[in-house]
Parts: sequence; C-alpha cells; structure tokens
Amino acid sequence: MPLLAIVYFSITGTTEKLAHAVARGADGIADVARCRIRSDDIASGRFQNESLLEAIDHASAAAFGSPTYMGGPAAQFKAFADASSDRWSQQRWANKIAGGFTTGACASGDQLHTLTYFSILAAQHGMLWCGLDVPGGEDPGGRNRLGSQLGLATHLVDAVLPESDLSTAEYLGQRLARMVARNG
Ligand SMILES: Cc1cc2nc3c(=O)[nH]c(=O)nc-3n(C[C@H](O)[C@H](O)[C@H](O)COP(=O)(O)O)c2cc1C
Repeated sequence: MPLLAIVYFSITGTTEKLAHAVARGADGIADVARCRIRSDDIASGRFQNESLLEAIDHASAAAFGSPTYMGGPAAQFKAFADASSDRWSQQRWANKIAGGFTTGACASGDQLHTLTYFSILAAQHGMLWCGLDVPGGEDPGGRNRLGSQLGLATHLVDAVLPESDLSTAEYLGQRLARMVARNG
C-alpha cells in the first residue's frame, strides 16, 4: 500500500485528534506514518529529527497539521519546514500529494493563512496540493463546517472539537489516500 505521512505539531491535543482522524480516514487505502513534531526535535532553534524527514521521503503523500498561532503555523512546524530546505533544493518531494489541516480558538482566527502556508510549502517542494471537495454549508453530513476548500480549518466550540470537524478530517485522510492510490 502507498504511504501517507501525517506531519503535525500539537500541544494541547486538538491538532493531534485531527491527525488521528486523518489517519482513520486513510485506513485500508494507505499505510500511515504519524509524525508528531516534538519540542525536543528542535535544538538551538533548528529542527533536527532526520527520521521524520525521511518518513516523508518514503511517503507518496503528506498531510501537514498545525494549530494556528498568531495567524500562521506554530513556530515548531515552521522549524520542520525550514529543515526541509535540503530536500527542496533537490526537489526530492516533487509529485507527492499534499494536504493540510489546522485549528484555532476562533471560527475566523486566520486559519486560512496557516493552510495557505502549507500549500506554499507544498508548491516549493513541487508537491501536488489536494484541497477539500466538500462545499461548505451544503454537505448533508455537516462536513467542512467552516467552508474552507483549501484544506481543513476547525475551531473549538465551547472548548470541544465538533464531531463534524473530526469527520471532515477523516474525509481528508480518505481523499489523500485515494489520490495516492489513483496516482499509482
Ligand atoms: C501562542 C498562541 C497563539 C494562538 N493564535 C491563534 C490564532 O491566531 N487564531 C486562533 O484562532 N487561535 C489561536 N490560538 C489558539 C490555538 O490555535 C488553539 O488553542 C488550538 O486548539 C491549539 O492546538 P493544539 O491543541 O493542537 O495544541 C493560539 C494559541 C496560542 C497558544
């Protein structure tokens, strides 16, 4: 089976719940490598977990996940992205499928900027961006609650992640895995 690498950072666990839901969605279609960026992966400001980068080398698709912090990805995710620059110069991740997910405290907490950053990171690597084909506000199952087509944007409602966001995350995982299977 093809491999989907889910690369994410999370402190209080919300992005991690989304990452697990993305993995559930890919189950049976792709193998999954769950790659959590840990604070101690970063030393002197530099991301130094080579094995996490190698997981993407071996994958056919990557899902990028980070909470939205101050209108963008968390610094820890950005440290990972910066450490991918050697791969960038060789375009080692070119033609892999990529997608993304994020969360925030607010419904309109600038999550789009985090997703935009993920898509630019993918473009820098020559990856093929895969958004959501779920029309916000129109889906009978309530998926894509916040109407974000670039990727999954979520937020906590009364400090809880709504089930519809988790089912959207599962759908994103399924979609990424199917894209990979289709690309052979
Ligand atoms: C430093 C910091 C900056 C944040 N900035 C934003 C923001 O710009 N927009 C937003 O909606 N939420 C913001 N939040 C809220 C987090 O995105 C939210 O708590 C999220 O659920 C944390 O994800 P995690 O549980 O995976 O760690 C911020 C939180 C922190 C700690």
